[in-house]
Formats: sequence, structure tokens, C-alpha cells
Amino acid sequence: MTDLASFTAAVDDVLPVVRAELESLVRIPSVSSPAFDQSELDRSAARVTEILQGCGITDIETIKLETPNGTGRPAILAHKQGPEGAPTVLLYAHHDVQPPGERDTWDTEPFEPTEVDGRLYGRGTADDKAGVLLHAGALRVLEQLGGLPVSVTLFIEGEEEIGSPTFVNFLNTYKDRLEADVIVVADSNNWTVDVPSLTTSLRGIVGLDVTVDVLDHALHSGMYGGPMLDAVTVASRLIATLHDENGSVAVAGLAGYDDTQADYPEEQLRQDMGILDGVELTGTGSIASRLWTQPALSVIGMDVTSVEKSSNTMIPSCRFQLSLRIAPGQEPADAFEALKKHLEEHVPFGARLTFGAGELGPAFQAVNNDVMDIARDSLRDAWGSEPVDIGVGGSIPFISDLSKVFPEAKILVTGIEDPDTRAHSGNESLDLGVFRNAILAEALLLSRLGQ
Ligand code: BES
Ligand code: MN
Repeated sequence: MTDLASFTAAVDDVLPVVRAELESLVRIPSVSSPAFDQSELDRSAARVTEILQGCGITDIETIKLETPNGTGRPAILAHKQGPEGAPTVLLYAHHDVQPPGERDTWDTEPFEPTEVDGRLYGRGTADDKAGVLLHAGALRVLEQLGGLPVSVTLFIEGEEEIGSPTFVNFLNTYKDRLEADVIVVADSNNWTVDVPSLTTSLRGIVGLDVTVDVLDHALHSGMYGGPMLDAVTVASRLIATLHDENGSVAVAGLAGYDDTQADYPEEQLRQDMGILDGVELTGTGSIASRLWTQPALSVIGMDVTSVEKSSNTMIPSCRFQLSLRIAPGQEPADAFEALKKHLEEHVPFGARLTFGAGELGPAFQAVNNDVMDIARDSLRDAWGSEPVDIGVGGSIPFISDLSKVFPEAKILVTGIEDPDTRAHSGNESLDLGVFRNAILAEALLLSRLGQ
């Protein structure tokens, strides 16, 4: 039996060091997007290495793969052998982060971790540098309690936020070193700060870059406006066809189903999202299904003349980026084709349509297993409340690659996020109580996996 009191004491003992290590990692702006200084990823990989060394791990390597898709961002692959015959657990997190966005969306400096009311603010404090320190914290706890009960491999990726371009190559190249009985992906959400969760489904993702052209140059909008529409108006009319009157995605051929298991009250959703008074919800079916098991389509960027710089002209060309989230069970390639077909069939007035780069990421659907029960027990003991299974509307596409290469491995999707984490946006933060409970739960889990 694991003795909860000694685990709790060990967590409280290591927590100040682990917290300081998290803060040191957050101070490194390791943004994987190519527009940012990529040497910061080398710095954060070096810092992750030091942190793992502090957990008593000596077999640590930083790897950048060369692939046809370019050079990978630095990933850390580390291993420590446990007792003879004990299972091997692969611990995953990522040390890259999203760009900080506009400074005025933050109340504190994005790369200076700052505690306010029990939450630690800063880019990556949650997604997913806390995932890195969740693993490191659990390992420190176990070392303090007498040594690792299982063999562990750590894979700390540096390119998750750009869609893991070299992941499949990595998997094939280092298959032998990544092989594990259990895989813990610490990059997800919890139901609330008081109620822990295992993530049992994630949506997939399809990205598409679209350009609409109507003229070969800009024109005086008074002299020529009338006989035809400008490119922004045409693109807007095309975008408007992507949803029906209810605001449900109207692209034929997309799958989705209603998940009636979780009750997500509308008032809670409005509060979690910060929906403005009077703004209506869209779609149909339960709220959980709209978030987790039905498709969603957003325009996430548009290149168009700014209001400030507008001259009174008809704009000849408009480019926009679509992000489609797809339901678990749907193949991304099918959804991609359905989306392109819809756009081609609905583009109005014969405007020219060009597709740029696409992006495909598979969804995830867990199948219940005994290790998930051990994880739920560990979450319950650590948090002192009953865990709930959740779906997630976001995507972790490489999980599907992992499960193809290691079909026997049991995959657990855990994490330190909560509904107020604001990953990817300004004021991202980590609830420090969640962080502590998550470290305790993972230490208990690893200990129980070793028994
Ligand atoms: N940690 C997120 C996935 C996530 C999102 C978990 C919301 C729980 C709640 C992950 O880092 C992420 O943002 N993934 C990207 C994938 C994309 C870059 C291919 C996403 O969902 O946009
Ligand atoms: Mn993440």
C-alpha cells in the first residue's frame, strides 16, 4: 500500500524547489513558432536537462532531428532504470510555448512568472512547462521516498505548439528507446480546480490557408464599386456559408455525436469563457458535445488592409486561415477534403480560390483499461475528490501516432490545466493547488504501477 501521509509530506517538501524550477523555465521565451528566436529553445532544453539531473537522472540526451520537413526543435530524451521486472512508463510534456501575443492582453510580464491569488501567471506556466515540472516533481518525490518504483523514460518535446512536424520521424528513429508499458501525456485539462480529470477524448484538427482573388489590382471604390464585389466581401460571404442559421458547422461530410455523459451548465460555460452579456450560444446538442465531440470551425486569421491604413479602394485579394476541430472518430484527411469541397462549391461570383498549406492532426478516443482505474484512484487520493472523465476540444495529434507505433501501450492523458488557465492567450496561469495535487497524484500512480 502507498502511504498517503508520507507521499503528501514528500510533495510539500520538494514543492518549493519544483516551483522555483518551473519559474526558471518560464523565464525562457521558448516559442517554437519560426518567427521567434529559436536559440531560446536550446536554452530551455538545457534548463530541462539540468532540472532532470536534479531528479537523479543521468541518461539524458537532447535531440534535433533533420527531416524533409526541416530541422526539428530540441527534444529531451531521458531514461532511468527502475527495479528489475518493473514496468516502463513514458512521461511526456512539451517545453515549447505559444507566442505571448499582444502585451496589453497581459496584466503581468508574460515571461516573468508572477503569483496572484494562488495562481502563477506567465506564458507556459501551465501549457506545458508545468507538465515538465509535474513529471520532475513526481520523480523527486519518489527518489526522496526511496527510489523509483518503475523504469521511466522522459520525452520532453520542443515543437508541440507547431504541430510536432518531426514527431513521426522521431518515433521511428527512437522507437526502441521510447517503448513503454504505460504512457502519461501531461498536457491536458481538469474539470475544475477542485475536481481532477482523466482526458478520455480529444478533437482532431484541420487547418487550411485560403486566398480569394477577384481583381488584378486595387480600384477606386466609387469609380468602380457596383458591378462587382471586393475580395473581403466575397471572402466574408464564403465564410458565412460555413455555418448554418444556428451557428452549427454546415460543411457536408463532417462527423459528430452528442456526448450526454457530462453536464456542463450554460452559466458555468458563460463564466469560464467570459461570454459577453446578451451574446447567444450557437450549435445544437449538449454543451459538452459542442465542445468535445462535434466539429467546430473558426477563422483564426485574416490578411486584410487595416482600418487605419485603408484607402478608399476595392480590395483585390483576401487571405484567411481556417481552423476546423473534428470529432473523435473522424479521419482528418476526410475532413480536409470535405472542407475544400465545400469552399470550392460555395465560393460566390466565380471568385478565384487558392489553397495554401494544410495541417492535419488526428483526434483521440481512449478505450478504458486497468491502468486508467489506477490513475483515477491516484487522482482521488491526491485531490480528495472524485475524478471525472472529460473530453477536450483541443488537440494533441501525436497521441494517435504513439498509439499506432505502440498499440499495446496504455495511454493516460492527464494535466495541470483548469477552465481558467487561458492557455495560448494573455494572462495564462497555473493554479498552484492543482499543481501540488497533480504532482502527488503522479507520484502515487507511478508507485502503484510498480507494485
Ligand atoms: N495543451 C494543448 C491541448 C489542450 C487544449 C489540452 C485544450 C486541453 C485543453 C496543446 O498544447 C495544444 O494547444 N495543441 C494544439 C495542437 C496543434 C498545434 C496541432 C491545439 O489544440 O491547438
Ligand atoms: Mn500543450
